[in-house]
Amino acid sequence: MPTYSLKINGTEQQLEADPAMPLLWVLRDMLGMVGTKFGCGIGQCGACTIHVDGQPMRACSIPASALVGRDITTIEGLASDTNLTALQQAWIDLDVPQCGYCQSGQLMSAAALLESKPNPSDDDIDAAMAGNYCRCGTYVRIRQAIHQAAASKTAMFYDATEKNQEDLV
Ligand code: FES
Ligand code: FES
Repeated sequence: MPTYSLKINGTEQQLEADPAMPLLWVLRDMLGMVGTKFGCGIGQCGACTIHVDGQPMRACSIPASALVGRDITTIEGLASDTNLTALQQAWIDLDVPQCGYCQSGQLMSAAALLESKPNPSDDDIDAAMAGNYCRCGTYVRIRQAIHQAAASKTAMFYDATEKNQEDLV
């Protein structure tokens, strides 16, 4: 079996895996990082959203071996050990999750949005979040939470490349 290394949440992970294995399986089954969820498995629901070099991508649809040399961030890497991001705090403050299953993917898409647009409009939010489905219908609270995080001005301008955790709030 081929071996390769992936940089995940700032740490190099040595893997021995089929090059065609999607990143989602590597994360969940090989590394035990189960915060990233399996939903549809075909790139349609957004439950498995992670960041690659700061851009939101679907972990179910990317061969892990194609990400050698890239910076991968998962929901486990969004906050530091002791501090939540403003985005995560807003999710708590507004009781955004219902069953919770889709929420790590929602947060990763929202984090990427705030990174590119620190003060997004409703239309910006709706466009950025359109690929993340929530069967519990938490869309209104998700939008409110993104606005709250944006208004805090300290919202999650974390550097996905350098993992600049000091800026997290
Ligand atoms: S599980 Fe990846 S998009 Fe649905
Ligand atoms: S909170 Fe249940 S699917 Fe989104």
